[in-house]
Amino acid sequence: MRKTGRRGTALIAVGAGLTLVLTACGANSSGGGGGAGSSSPSAGAGGGAKVGVVLPDTASSARYESFDRPLLDKALRAEGLDPDIQNAQGDVQKFSALADGMINNGVKVLILDAPNTDVGAAVEKKAQAAGIPTIDYDRLNLGGSSDYYVSFDNTKVGALQGQGLVQGLAGKQGAQVIEIEGAATDNNGTLFYEGQQTVVGPLYKSGALKLVASQRIPNWDNQAGGTTFEQFLTANGGKVDGVLAANDGLAGAVITVLKKTGQNGKAIVTGQDATPDGLQAILRGDQYMTVFKPISDEANAAAKLAGALAKGDKAGADAQATASTQDTKANRAVKSVLLTPILITKDKVKQVVDQGSVKASDICVSETQAACDQLGIK
Ligand code: GAL
Repeated sequence: MRKTGRRGTALIAVGAGLTLVLTACGANSSGGGGGAGSSSPSAGAGGGAKVGVVLPDTASSARYESFDRPLLDKALRAEGLDPDIQNAQGDVQKFSALADGMINNGVKVLILDAPNTDVGAAVEKKAQAAGIPTIDYDRLNLGGSSDYYVSFDNTKVGALQGQGLVQGLAGKQGAQVIEIEGAATDNNGTLFYEGQQTVVGPLYKSGALKLVASQRIPNWDNQAGGTTFEQFLTANGGKVDGVLAANDGLAGAVITVLKKTGQNGKAIVTGQDATPDGLQAILRGDQYMTVFKPISDEANAAAKLAGALAKGDKAGADAQATASTQDTKANRAVKSVLLTPILITKDKVKQVVDQGSVKASDICVSETQAACDQLGIK
């Protein structure tokens, strides 16, 4: 039986006598609303300058259709702009075709959240040739030419995940950890991982924690994440104390596997996005923490930037994007707006409801009602 302590492809042998049926889907896997490539009902209906938005998918995280789409539509309209919001459904060709359509339709600004950095960079080249400013939304397209980048401090997101894991393990010496990480084609996945390692790296080195296995999951595919986790768990004789899951979708897939052996609620599982499913898992005690990234702040920042750019007010846009992010591939500094992420454990879930990101009815269901009552969530 071989295990990998390194990132990358895990060499797995199924442990003798202990096999787990491969999982079908994750507990947090509900996709967002919104149809494949459905444009916002308002496309063409707004009064102001046309702004195109292309979102990456609906499967990796419920956020894009549940949060990003409605909040971007609202924020762009509040800026007097005419949003056309589409979702590439994880398909790079579709992403490119949707962006081409928007460029040909003469959008004044293009807001991109690409399925991978290469297709994002390619679209930016075409937009630049057409004289259309671009904003990298949430994900930086390495090697690209975007004019601005609006996101959260994603290294900080990873550090909060590492802190949450350590807090949950409560000093258990030699705790065994499995890492189920974000897509290697998503620069955020790399930043989350790097942020986590600032916390857990020294603990692996000292032996306080033991890294069992680690893998970046292509396209953040929740099912693949669950299958990979199951293989790592089997290869480790069914033993795990903590799981660094890079977002709530992957966390849900991990929890589904843990439920098969009654380890849910015992192993410490991290997440990100504060989705309704992720928050329910935290209220049930199956997930230890998530990272709340108020998408309303991200959408508002992108809309304000787009509003300035649509008016040709570059100075005004620059005055908003006062941070800077290094694109290590294109070797350029990108003017940025970087927002602050928030660590959410069970005692803090009410904050997410109070901020308006989710409703109590989204997370207080039969299994979690007692926890909601105890926490004053209503
Ligand atoms: C990341 C994003 C996270 C998470 C993940 C899965 O790029 O920043 O919030 O949603 O994608 O889609």
